[in-house]
This record gives sequence, structure tokens and C-alpha cells, in this order.
Amino acid sequence: MAKQRVLSGIQPSGKLHIGNLVGALQNWVKLQEQYECYYFIADWHALTSQYADTSQLKEYIKDVLVNCLSAGLDPAKATIFQQSHVPGHAELHVLLSMITPLGWLERVPSFKEKQEAVTDKDLNTYGFLGYPLLQSADILIYRANYVPVGIDQMPHLEITREICRRFNNFYGEVFPEPEGLLTEFPKVPGTDGRKMSKTYGNCIYLSDTPKEVEQKVRTMMTDPQRIKRTDKGDPELSPVYHLHKIFSTKEEQDQVAEGCRTAGIGCIDCKKILIKNLFKVLEPLWEKRNVFLEKPKDLEDIISAGSHKANNAASETMEQVRKAMKLDNIVSL
Ligand code: TRP
Repeated sequence: MAKQRVLSGIQPSGKLHIGNLVGALQNWVKLQEQYECYYFIADWHALTSQYADTSQLKEYIKDVLVNCLSAGLDPAKATIFQQSHVPGHAELHVLLSMITPLGWLERVPSFKEKQEAVTDKDLNTYGFLGYPLLQSADILIYRANYVPVGIDQMPHLEITREICRRFNNFYGEVFPEPEGLLTEFPKVPGTDGRKMSKTYGNCIYLSDTPKEVEQKVRTMMTDPQRIKRTDKGDPELSPVYHLHKIFSTKEEQDQVAEGCRTAGIGCIDCKKILIKNLFKVLEPLWEKRNVFLEKPKDLEDIISAGSHKANNAASETMEQVRKAMKLDNIVSL
């Protein structure tokens, strides 16, 4: 039996951080063993909000690619590609736009939320409204069965399923209905306790040097009520403890939590344990990263071979789409 298909994408809208690693990349690496996986760099999606200044786009695309590979994505197992190198995504997007009621897009929660939250850019654009539909095209063009995403992306999956049904109703069964594979992961706090996000400047980046990682953890916020070494603290109020929950063993978690509550351990020592464990996860990544950065030609080959494979799969679907919509060759009349 043919393997089921998995598809997911990541936007090159900034450098990747440890939240992207535990929230997406590690899961992608697992899935490549079991499914036929398509993973891509969603550069067009990044343009929907960062169209005015594209000066850093290339750098971010490279950062995503290098980190995907360093985290263990294997081009021999998964197809790794760049969205803008597969024009079929745009063709399907325009065809799907014909059957998409405006209200469906206006109702997607991320549309209004992001428009309101982002004040330094004009997101009153056609491209930004169409963001979820472009995502639908990404998914449907590979006839993906599963789409691993975080909870924030679930509304985009829902609209994709609605578009899928609407298309199949009009033109016949072309697309299987994709399912979201919810990646359950605790929220990764940034160094100031808020959600880790480049807009807050509180990220530990995968491209940070060991020194930078150490420095960021050392100056990280802890329980704000624990001022003196002898003060007792509440680990739940410390973002350091929340990172321990992700990166440390159960024994270490219990040890630092108990130590925090009883003032048995100081914040510096608690942070040292976290630094040790972060290094354990990041060291193999740093090693591979350095190898890839020395061979830019290999990176280019990987992305162009992946995009070529993706193009083949996308073209097959597009032939069926054109046929279903009666846009194929009139000579066949
Ligand atoms: N919107 C996704 C995000 O910001 C990225 C993305 C674009 C995506 N196209 C996709 C994810 C298709 C899954 C499937 O995380």
C-alpha cells in the first residue's frame, strides 16, 4: 500500500528559535520515517505580511533550510522544497479563489487578530486576506492526508477542508480531505516569560552561539517574587522552570521545583542545569549547521532537487484539476 502523505510548511519570517524546534521540527523528523513527507519553506506566505521590505528574506530562507537539515530532516526521506519554486501553488490558489466566498476568509480568526496586533505594517491587502487560501492550495496540491500543525493553525485546516469539499462538489472528487495532526506541545516561554516570539525579542535562536544561549539563560527572568537567595519561590511563575519541563529529565524537574519552593537551590544553579540540557539538544544541531554552512552549494542542490520532486507531484494534481474544471486541451474534444 502507498504511504499516506504528510505536508507542512514553515514561514521564513524570521530566524528559527527553540520553540520551532520542539513545536515543529522534531515532530517532522519523526514523521519522515513513516509517511511520504513534503516539507516546505513558505516564502510567499512570509510576503503576505512582509512585502514592503524583502531585504532579509533570503537570509531567513537559508536559516530555515539549514535548521531543518540540522534538526534531522533528511532529503533522502522527505521532499524539502521552497514554495515559490513550485508555481502550481499559485495556479491552484487562483483557481480556488474563484469558488471561495469572501465571508469564509473574513471569518478566519487570525485575519482580524493579526491585522489588529500588527501596527507597523498595512495588512489591508488582498494577499493577506488570501493567506489561508494559499495555505489550502499548498495542502491540496499534494493531496496530503495529514498536516502536522500547532493549535493556532487549526482554523486554516478547517477552511482547507471546506474548500476541498466545495471543489469536489462542483467538479468531482479530485482532492482527499486533509486532516490536521495537532502537535501537542507546552507553550515555550521566551526569556521574559511571554510567549517566545521575535516581535518580543525574547527568543533563543537555533543560530545563537553557545555563548549567546548561555548568556540568554543566565539573564532570563525567574519568579519575580524571589529576590534574595533565601526567598522561597514558586517554580510555576518562573519561565526557567517551564523550559526545564521541556528540556530536563523528570528527576531534574522535581529537584529544581522542590529547591525553588524551599530556597534549597539558587536561580543560578537552576539555570546551570537548564543550560547543560539545552546544550545537549543543541550541540548536534550546531555541529551539522557548521558543516552545511561551509557547503552552500549542497544547500542549493538540496532545495532544487526537492523543488523538482515537488513540482512533479504538484503537476500531476494540476492536470487533474484542469481536467475536472474543463480547462484542459480542447484538441481532446
Ligand atoms: N501558516 C503556517 C504557519 O504560519 C505555515 C504554512 C503555510 C503551512 N502553508 C502551510 C503549514 C501548509 C501547514 C501546511 O505556521
